[in-house]
Amino acid sequence: MAKRKRAAGNSQDPSSILPQKKHYRQRAHANPFSDHALQYPSAPNAVDWSVHYPTFAGTGSAPEFADIGCGFGGLLITLAPLFPDTLMLGMEIRVQVSQYVQDRIAALRVTSLSDPVSGPSPYQNVSVVRANSMKFLPNYFSKASLSALFFLFPDPHFKSRKHKARIISPTLLAEYAYVLRVGGIVYTITDVKDLHEWMRTHLEAFPLFEPVDEQTLRAEGKGPIIDAVYTSTEEGKKVERNGGEKWLACFRRIAVQ
Ligand SMILES: C[S@@+](CC[C@H](N)C(=O)[O-])C[C@H]1O[C@@H](n2cnc3c(N)ncnc32)[C@H](O)[C@@H]1O
Repeated sequence: MAKRKRAAGNSQDPSSILPQKKHYRQRAHANPFSDHALQYPSAPNAVDWSVHYPTFAGTGSAPEFADIGCGFGGLLITLAPLFPDTLMLGMEIRVQVSQYVQDRIAALRVTSLSDPVSGPSPYQNVSVVRANSMKFLPNYFSKASLSALFFLFPDPHFKSRKHKARIISPTLLAEYAYVLRVGGIVYTITDVKDLHEWMRTHLEAFPLFEPVDEQTLRAEGKGPIIDAVYTSTEEGKKVERNGGEKWLACFRRIAVQ
């Protein structure tokens, strides 16, 4: 297992409590089929969301946005202040990476000041769990509870014999349709053309999703989400640095005909 050293806090400078990625190194891939000896809630109503979102305790709120394979959390951190009343949860299988996101959110909650006009400090509405979403997504999210599901730069699993490890598959699409409410959006983006075609083809073939183009989503006011999908994550930034292309495909959850 990779070693993790916490950044030493510097009482002079509040930004020094922000974690540094270099202290949370881990190998690039985790096996989604192994058990990872993790403990999971037996059902969504067994999750105490007040632990994740203390300022929302007692409101009955539960996550509405889920970032699957959130990596280092760039999307969550970007969207949090834009939708301060929407709870968002990242799911990340790698221990060091999910710990980084947890520490990053905790630090941001401390260092970001409350505003007398806009209310409590931002980032109260984001959290992360270390979890294998391919096995335990419905343990966290109840039926029709989500309005957005994000799959940003998922692991491509290039070889055919590894395609079963891809995060978009016919079986998993049934779970994604189950947790999304009618009208909810699945956002996918990748720099791997073959994976884009794979995700698009499978989602198009699934009867509870219909494609929705970027212009339509922007016209509906989801432009800031689309912008964040393109640019906010660490993988997205890496693709940009390397001059790679990005393929976006979005789908709306539709009602059973
Ligand atoms: C290529 S990275 C992309 C991370 C992030 N979305 C971004 O754009 O920067 C894919 C992430 O998905 C995570 N992941 C892969 N399979 C997963 C699973 N079954 N459950 C949760 N996370 C998973 C990996 O650990 C990795 O951090």
